[in-house]
Amino acid sequence: MSGASRAGPMLGLIGLALFLMPPGEAQTQAAQTQAAQTQAAQTQTTQPVLPPLPYRNPALTPQARAADLLARMTLAEKIGQMTQAERGAIRDTADIAAYGLGSLLSGGGSAPTSNTPAGWADMTDQFQKAALSTRLGIPLLYGSDAVHGHNNLLGAVLYPHNIGLGATRDPALVARIARATAEDMAATGANWTFSPCLCVVRDVRWGRSYESFGERPDLVARMSSAVGGYQGQPGSRGRVLATAKHFLGDGGTTYASSATEDYLLDQGDTRLSEAQLRAWHLPPFQAAIQAGVGSVMVSFSSWNGVKMHAQKYLITDVLKGELGFGGFVVSDWAGVDQIAPDHALAVRTAINAGIDMVMVPGDYRRFVQTLTGEVQAGRVPMTRIDDAASRILTQKFRFGLFERPLADRSFAAGAGSAAHRALARQAVQESLVLLKNDGVLPISGSVKRILITGSSADDLGRQLGGWSVTWQGRGGRTTSGTTILEGIKARAGSGVKVDHLETATAGQARGYDLGVVVVGETPYAEGKGDTDDLNLNTADAQAIRTVCKAVKCLVIVVSGRPLLLTGELPGIGALVASWLPGTEGGAGVADAIFGQAKFTGRLPVTWPRNNDQLPVGRPKDAGTPLFPYGFGLDH
Ligand code: GLC
Repeated sequence: MSGASRAGPMLGLIGLALFLMPPGEAQTQAAQTQAAQTQAAQTQTTQPVLPPLPYRNPALTPQARAADLLARMTLAEKIGQMTQAERGAIRDTADIAAYGLGSLLSGGGSAPTSNTPAGWADMTDQFQKAALSTRLGIPLLYGSDAVHGHNNLLGAVLYPHNIGLGATRDPALVARIARATAEDMAATGANWTFSPCLCVVRDVRWGRSYESFGERPDLVARMSSAVGGYQGQPGSRGRVLATAKHFLGDGGTTYASSATEDYLLDQGDTRLSEAQLRAWHLPPFQAAIQAGVGSVMVSFSSWNGVKMHAQKYLITDVLKGELGFGGFVVSDWAGVDQIAPDHALAVRTAINAGIDMVMVPGDYRRFVQTLTGEVQAGRVPMTRIDDAASRILTQKFRFGLFERPLADRSFAAGAGSAAHRALARQAVQESLVLLKNDGVLPISGSVKRILITGSSADDLGRQLGGWSVTWQGRGGRTTSGTTILEGIKARAGSGVKVDHLETATAGQARGYDLGVVVVGETPYAEGKGDTDDLNLNTADAQAIRTVCKAVKCLVIVVSGRPLLLTGELPGIGALVASWLPGTEGGAGVADAIFGQAKFTGRLPVTWPRNNDQLPVGRPKDAGTPLFPYGFGLDH
């Protein structure tokens, strides 16, 4: 960072204020200050009364404040604002000031040692104070993937993942969940969520299918209501900057087209005409922009062989130009590096394509040095740097970061609160899709002996899926919440015998009035969830066949996407898709199967009969699906 990042010789407060002003305004300022001094002398006050510098004046518009601040900044300070580092990459907190970093983030599962609201607030406040110590005192944006609640925060209520929320067809509910999540985030000082994912999933073999609200652009577009929930009203507290991601076509990649690691779909190539790309994947971003979203994250994927991170036409001409997006564009995690092995080429290509902030997230010193060199060599124009920095600063002013940079600890009690749990429980109820019911549901008072079995019957971590306390999530009791077994036990009451068996024989099953088989997937995130086979795992398929042959049975699927159970369906009495219901999954599922809540959910994605019917929308020769998009029984 150049010496200009420091204030030079120690100047009096007044002198410093003048030092910061461009010459033209300095004389006016001097006259104003002289008058203020005279007034102060007359009123015998000791403190000089200084009018706030324009960028520090909340009465001005975010755009005006950003313009004033930008005019005061050095190249180094502008590039610092365009730089985002992972919290774990910060070698020395002093680097935050030395490099004038604009943003830090917590990647999936990246949390302070004390993973509590206070632990987070202490951490982010420390980072903010380092940023505020700089010459211009520009606060940080602190980002985190709060994608189904503040899921990096241990003990936070975790809501159904997006695919379940898509099944609710309830944009107002989605907005309320986003609001509650924003408050949990505000308590921790995380003021930016990398959510909502507005991906349109076209092949549910994709590991990020559950991050999508569904396979239809109109449904996904409706759920951009999350933006308003996260971002709240101007001047209000407990609001965070939202991110529409991943631009563009992340859910439409071609099977086996990924060149990254061993992924089959994730980060792959979306091979569509421009008209198809626009029709299937653009509407959710148009809706998010209309909702005022302040940031857009670029997709790792490619469009017809060109990385999205290098797509100037789509980022600058379409997103910023044609759609009029006025916020800023952030790269995905080290997404810039995927453009080319030559770091300078990758950096200038990404910035010139229209990316404003780079989620480096590791070697931020190298990024700053590289981009500085590209600007000084004239390969990245200063106008691009000014546009990028201005977009970022405008959002910081818009969200009141200069006035309230620190964590708002008044929201700490909300994390894990009864109110948030009740909201999550309602979301679970509305997300359930009843796919079959041969008189099994609601569970009647005549049912006195219930057997519960299956891999996901008593596993909270499986209900949460990925992005849950850790990046990939994991099975077991990873946080607080109710499993489906616990929910059924609590709802059934003392007069009903509820037994849980890891595995059950037909003979054992015949000893009960109802067998509940809870099947599903182990948690995963991103490309690690890509699969070439959606069949149930062998043990689950066997459990269904054994129990459902011996006794009236209910099968509950706990998964991030449809699983193939075509062969098992005839023997199943009732079938419920619960998706990834979150910490309140047990309570919400029990409410519905005992009749305390109605089944209203509708499939957000087609439920295929077999793998050959994917991606959805294949020619009709693929045959009819097991259950079509939009299907769902009321009872
Ligand atoms: C990940 C994801 C993106 C997330 C980011 C930060 O790789 O692609 O959705 O917001 O990195 O965790």
